[in-house]
Amino acid sequence: MVKPNQKIALITGANRGIGFEIARQLGARGIHTLMGARDPAKGRASAARLAAENLGVEFFHIDVADRTSIQDAADRIDRQFSRLDILVNNAGIAPDGGGSVMDVPAEKFEAALITNALGPLLLSRACARLMQRNQYGRIVNISSTLGSLTAMSAASAEEAATKVPAYRLSKAALNAVTTLLAMELKNFRILVNSACPGWVRTDMSGEQAPLSPAEGADTPVWLATLPDDGPSGGFFRERKAIPW
Ligand SMILES: NC(=O)c1ccc[n+]([C@@H]2O[C@H](COP(=O)([O-])OP(=O)(O)OC[C@H]3O[C@@H](n4cnc5c(N)ncnc54)[C@H](OP(=O)(O)O)[C@@H]3O)[C@@H](O)[C@H]2O)c1
Repeated sequence: MVKPNQKIALITGANRGIGFEIARQLGARGIHTLMGARDPAKGRASAARLAAENLGVEFFHIDVADRTSIQDAADRIDRQFSRLDILVNNAGIAPDGGGSVMDVPAEKFEAALITNALGPLLLSRACARLMQRNQYGRIVNISSTLGSLTAMSAASAEEAATKVPAYRLSKAALNAVTTLLAMELKNFRILVNSACPGWVRTDMSGEQAPLSPAEGADTPVWLATLPDDGPSGGFFRERKAIPW
């Protein structure tokens, strides 16, 4: 049961990895947290784990690569809660599997752009309409330093040729989504930012990464709970601004 002044958050891809930890940390702050997952069985199991820690979480079905699922999710939030305070666009894929920007198949660029950039744009628009009603909102796009144009242009030729070009392109596009929405929504007390969680031990990055998922969740959670005078239209890592 949601209390009248309790904030409501939706996190996509919250059934594992960084999204799961963002859900845990938002739940621990007393925020009613909708744990988005595309697979209901996985989503219910993950929500049950956090509910067992006495956190106010629930499974919420959403596939960010499916436009119907996105609109259906926004409609369900409107019907059930009549509002949304926080959206974390966390769900992501890294489909490249190695290869240069000259070789990676078009289908992999397409898949990365749909899941990592178009889905977050469409979901943010649908959720921002709910946020506009209450003149309050926080949208956090989980991006990556790999999507930084500054980092891309400073990369060595070898690195540029081998490092996940479809993923990089999609995260650069996601950063553009952040910038465009932040401008559009600035008069509605809706703050929109990109976060790089750092290199985090998850299924996506592997065991050699230095940060735990809980550490990776820190900057996203900070941005999701910013005060009204907090930044908007920025890109942050370890709670510090980094270049686009
Ligand atoms: N790990 C890192 O070092 C790192 C660094 C920078 C940025 N990031 C970003 O952080 C975010 C989380 O990554 P992670 O490391 O936690 O990855 P992960 O362990 O691979 O988890 C990815 C999550 O996204 C979900 N997902 C994928 N496609 C989806 C879709 N179409 N609809 C709904 N959910 C979908 C997955 O669901 P399923 O379980 O159903 O597949 C899973 O819950 C991603 O955006 C990633 O790009 C990660």
